[in-house]
Amino acid sequence: MYSQKLHVAILSSPGLGHLIPVLVLGNRLATHHAVKVTVLVLTTSTSPAESQLLKPPSGPKVVDTINIPPVDISHLIDANTRVVTQLCIMVRESLPGVRSTIAGMKHRPNVLIADLFCTEAFPIATEFNIPKYLYIPTTAWFTALTSYCPVLHEQIDGQYVDQSEPLQIPGCKPVRPEDVVDPMLDRNDPQYREYLRQAMEFQLGDGILMNTWEELEPVSLEALRRNESLRAVVKPPVYPIGPLTRPIELAGPKSELIEWLDKQPHESVIFVCFGSGGTLSAQQITELAWGLELSQQRFIWVVRPPAENGADESFFTSGSASDGTPDYLPEGFLSRTKKTGWVVPLWAQQPEILNHPSVGGFLSHCGWNSAVECIKSGVPMIAWPLYAEQRLNATMLTEELGIAVRPEILPAKKVVDREEIEKLVRTVMEYKEGKVMRDKVKKLKNSAENALNKGGSSYDTMCNLLRDIQMRLRF
Ligand SMILES: *[C@@H]1O[C@H](CO)[C@@H](O)[C@H](O)[C@H]1NC(C)=O
Ligand SMILES: *[C@@H]1O[C@H](CO)[C@@H](O)[C@H](O)[C@H]1NC(C)=O
Repeated sequence: MYSQKLHVAILSSPGLGHLIPVLVLGNRLATHHAVKVTVLVLTTSTSPAESQLLKPPSGPKVVDTINIPPVDISHLIDANTRVVTQLCIMVRESLPGVRSTIAGMKHRPNVLIADLFCTEAFPIATEFNIPKYLYIPTTAWFTALTSYCPVLHEQIDGQYVDQSEPLQIPGCKPVRPEDVVDPMLDRNDPQYREYLRQAMEFQLGDGILMNTWEELEPVSLEALRRNESLRAVVKPPVYPIGPLTRPIELAGPKSELIEWLDKQPHESVIFVCFGSGGTLSAQQITELAWGLELSQQRFIWVVRPPAENGADESFFTSGSASDGTPDYLPEGFLSRTKKTGWVVPLWAQQPEILNHPSVGGFLSHCGWNSAVECIKSGVPMIAWPLYAEQRLNATMLTEELGIAVRPEILPAKKVVDREEIEKLVRTVMEYKEGKVMRDKVKKLKNSAENALNKGGSSYDTMCNLLRDIQMRLRF
């Protein structure tokens, strides 16, 4: 089919949370659509641990990866530079490396897909005279909010968080002021200006790919396609091609953990994991340990050493922590929960665990990767957003989809105490409310599978995208 002709380069911004969805997209294009894929990875000198966290893919390699060497940005940032600004600066400084890498490739790509922090690479595609697409590895709702932000910027005076009314996005569910994404929290911070710039650059590509599917977000997708007020800012066609997730590795010897899971009753274990960059305060870890113990449910908990100042943005340093037995857990916790619980340091095989029939609940920070893996596994969630942009995910999962519960007060604002955690865990694992959520998430799981099957909405959308690309290449 396309195999000989199409060669897609996908550019990933720094950070494991950005690299995973890009690799997953590349894998999908290669394995299901016979496209040649090269992933260009922007690396950072401060995140060497990340490559170790990424398990080498077993079996034949389906995509090529090229690391773009890290750039030194220390002279361009200071202690107050926020994560989004840092990311954008890193990408900007890496552009010459991206250009020379593409120029030096023996087989040049004929399409560039850039992830949402790499839109500044679009002019490079133009220089090489190839089509350029944007990949937003999250939802249509986020795409709509971000694209519409330049309009909100004109409409609204003062900080978004101080508004008394929800922010209206044409045709979409309004966004509560307290749910706005991180860069919208402070309009005076440089990262807000970067965000506005990104929003405009979203519109410069030939199309927008999103890791969502028609049946999950019919309203937002309809608005992105047909609402004139939203279309006035969202110019390119949108392609919902998800939900794409990491493959489940069933090959190889079973780990001790999976062997233990094999022996547990159906849907009896709650999995607790805060993603690749998530850390909690010492006090919050203690309360979580007590809450899990009090709930008397079986659990697997990926524990990370506490952050010094509560839930900070440990994005760039994740994985650098010490190993060995965690000493920040309540005394005697490990021996008291020896039969019912597993504490795993740092990183666990999340897709394998979530998909195991014994797992019946997921306590998650609500990164979109994790949320989608969870939906595909058909288990309900406790939504525990750590950073601002995850709040929008948490709201969607709890209020719109009805497949998650969340703490009453944002965990970033106040420590969630053990009684509340116990109740949340029991709700998901034992109570009737949990049963209702379980039924809903199983329906979504089915719709996700259908979307990706031949003839399903996302499968067809990907075919349409590839056809559109081929049309462009003929000119
Ligand atoms: C577009 O959105 C606006 C504002 O929400 C709404 O009034 C209008 O009816 C929508 N148009 C369509 C075609 O849905
Ligand atoms: C979901 O969370 C991710 C962070 O993991 C964020 O990048 C994304 O914007 C969020 N999506 C929505 C719809 O809030």
